[in-house]
Amino acid sequence: MYPKKKVAPQKESAPKKVLKEEPKKDLEEEAEKSGKTFELLRGFRDILPEDQGRWNLVRDTIRSIAESYSFDRIDLPILERSDLFQRTIGKGTDIVEKEMYVFTDPSNRSVALRPEATASAARAYISHGMLDRPQPVKMWYLGPMFRHDRPQAGRYRQFYQAGFESFGVDEPIVDAQLIVIAHQIFKQLGLDVKVEINSIGTSECRAAYLTELVSYFRAHRSKLSEDDKRRLQKNPLRILDSKEEVTRELLQGAPQILDWLDEKSKEHFMKVLEFLEEVDVPYVLNPYLVRGLDYYTHSVFEFVLADDTGDGSQSALGGGGRYDGLVELLGGRATPACGFALGLERIVRALEAKGVNPPERPQPRVFFAQLGDASRRVGLKLYEEFRQAGIPVAEAFGKNALKGQLEAANKLGVELTLILGQKEVLDGTIIIREMESGAQEIVDVKKVVGLVKKKLELDKTVPFSDTASALILPNS
Ligand code: HAM
Repeated sequence: MYPKKKVAPQKESAPKKVLKEEPKKDLEEEAEKSGKTFELLRGFRDILPEDQGRWNLVRDTIRSIAESYSFDRIDLPILERSDLFQRTIGKGTDIVEKEMYVFTDPSNRSVALRPEATASAARAYISHGMLDRPQPVKMWYLGPMFRHDRPQAGRYRQFYQAGFESFGVDEPIVDAQLIVIAHQIFKQLGLDVKVEINSIGTSECRAAYLTELVSYFRAHRSKLSEDDKRRLQKNPLRILDSKEEVTRELLQGAPQILDWLDEKSKEHFMKVLEFLEEVDVPYVLNPYLVRGLDYYTHSVFEFVLADDTGDGSQSALGGGGRYDGLVELLGGRATPACGFALGLERIVRALEAKGVNPPERPQPRVFFAQLGDASRRVGLKLYEEFRQAGIPVAEAFGKNALKGQLEAANKLGVELTLILGQKEVLDGTIIIREMESGAQEIVDVKKVVGLVKKKLELDKTVPFSDTASALILPNS
């Protein structure tokens, strides 16, 4: 029934490479021992100003695509009641069992830093009565998530996700369009990404499948690692994405979930695949894909780089699926839903590896140099006038000597420097210096914004006036 050629290779069975970015030492622990206690917490990072260009590229692309598909932005709290996640992600999952930042707040309530935002989106959908709005309700979000996992390349304890959630429609076209949206984001960013997809059906057909799966693995129990034995007992579906080599080998002969889907689930899945083919989104069937959260039903999918070697590192750039039971599980009316989330650090890292650079931010073309306090006062006001006129101005308000300020202006490569000394403040004038020629002109300070505007826009056609004072300025 399914095109066998598209079955994904068993990527996790490949020998694991040494993880590149894994911290050699625990900086946090070391710093504490040495008395320097203000190192970053392990698994947390600063996104520095110099990295913001690439981050903005990702964020802006996601925002513009979300808007073009009529998804509305929602901002959800970072802190929620911990049982929201326990109940939805599932008690036997790694996220809930080992990775959640849970603590008791001053009101003695158990709260958690959100490890993901789908549960929060479903909670918001119910608590704001969105069930009564025209369906589907399509929302997107972007923000930090927290999982206390072992940090390694592409895996952090605080990481950013952008998520898309569509509530209220159970048609397979919704699943397909969500995949198309993610595909468009990657395409616009210049990343070649493939979709791995599977169906885990309804909870009923999954229950029948799990009985089969458990009895198959029980027969091989002695070969399993302690972790997988525990999985078999607590959350047997997760054995499908076990990283253990023995388990991966055993999986070759294990029953496959696709053969246990009921007619409706099969039909849903087939339609999703047909839609994807219709719009030429390449996909790979991966019968071992189950995802690490319990709320999924029917389609589950992940996005990985097309040239991903499957070395066992953190390669999924995003993932999602249908979760038709989640809203009801949280006390709402039964509502079908589907969504996905992208991992921003992993996308930024993929862009870096590919050498994709953000567009350069326009550099200021004007520099303001001031000499003394009175000129600083005028300068502050003038700076605002230029900014409001849409002309970004660079400055070095911290420097006093003209020489240093001109050096800074040269370094920035500005075309014009405005020089305001004590004398000019008294006269109500200002000097405009053309950096390339060194020519200078004294102008009325009230007219300087208009003049600079003209010079920058009509550089060649507005020569310096013949009456420009040939001022030779001291070099210091
Ligand atoms: P998830 O697969 O747990 O799904 O996370 C989605 C993406 O977040 C991953 O594919 C990965 O790119 C990124 N990610 C996850 N953990 C980390 C980490 N520790 N460090 C860096 N990046 C990470 C969800 O969270 C679901 N809520 C997705 C969803 C939305 N399903 C339906 N709607």
